[in-house]
Amino acid sequence: MLDQLNRLEGEALAALETVKESDALAEWDRSYLGKKGALTLLLRAVGDLPKEERPAFGRAANEAKVRLEAAYEARAEALRREEMVRELEQGTLDVTLPGRPAGPGHLHITTQTLRRIYAIFAEMGFQVYESPEVETDEMNFGLLNMPPHHPARDMWDTFWVSDEALLRTHTSPGQMRAMREYCPEPIRVILPGKCYRYEQITARSEHQFYQVEGLAVGRNITMADLITTLTEFARRYYGAERRVRIRGSYFPFTEPSIEVDVDCILCEGQGCRVCKYSGWLEIAGAGMVHPVVLQNGGYDPDVWSGFAFGPGVERPAMLKHSIDDIRLFYGNDLRFLRQF
Ligand code: PHE
Repeated sequence: MLDQLNRLEGEALAALETVKESDALAEWDRSYLGKKGALTLLLRAVGDLPKEERPAFGRAANEAKVRLEAAYEARAEALRREEMVRELEQGTLDVTLPGRPAGPGHLHITTQTLRRIYAIFAEMGFQVYESPEVETDEMNFGLLNMPPHHPARDMWDTFWVSDEALLRTHTSPGQMRAMREYCPEPIRVILPGKCYRYEQITARSEHQFYQVEGLAVGRNITMADLITTLTEFARRYYGAERRVRIRGSYFPFTEPSIEVDVDCILCEGQGCRVCKYSGWLEIAGAGMVHPVVLQNGGYDPDVWSGFAFGPGVERPAMLKHSIDDIRLFYGNDLRFLRQF
């Protein structure tokens, strides 16, 4: 069989020499390297050999295959060159033609939305604070009042990088970093950034998305401040006539916790497909910073209080521009991106 292999290789290389155009090259590829090609069939026949001859033959056959593939590539390149020279000689290739101009780019819809959100919160005195995308287990969960094995960890499906490191599942770990940096000063920051969750990708959920966390820590901060801030945000982002609704909720790092809804911007609260006929759209989880979290950040919860909130970014953009599939944000399809 080794002889057969050598003969086959010689024959294939000789045949390749005679190939003069791309159809013939494709035909050559099919008949030697393709699924039913001679070399492929020979390789498959290795099972018929006595056991002790198989390794040597397998190795020789694979080496022959690599050589033939390289020869094929070289021939293909040579043919491309010949073709180009021919075009130049015949004058069908106009090398003086100007290139296709690359149009000016513009900001991605996500970036535009982020900037709008920054501007709204800047007007309310919030400054931008950035924190890492790869976080420790302790920052993402532990210090936010979720010790190992706490059942609330199930709320976030997590991509682990190692036993202790993960891709942050939310921007909330940034709260801890901001508190530890600013303590004992009052804080008013927003923490924008990408978050990751090990989730099924659908029109409504991606495994990567943006959030903009908000955090305020001070001496007399109350729930009224939180609700006012979020209502103000909703009106500036979605429109001055918007109404906001608060529902009780649960997060381990806030107490009490709330969920914030805005009346549906598409049907004005009448009920439609987008708001699932409820008239309301959920825009953020929020709450008063849990005393344990304040303490972990260095603040005495008897003296200090604070609020936090965490709206997404793609969803507001989707509502505002009637985008019905979150996957478009990461699809890199220019036909979509050019619209914004
Ligand atoms: N981090 C929460 C989430 O991703 C949202 C949240 C932020 C809730 C801040 C309360 C306070 O689901």
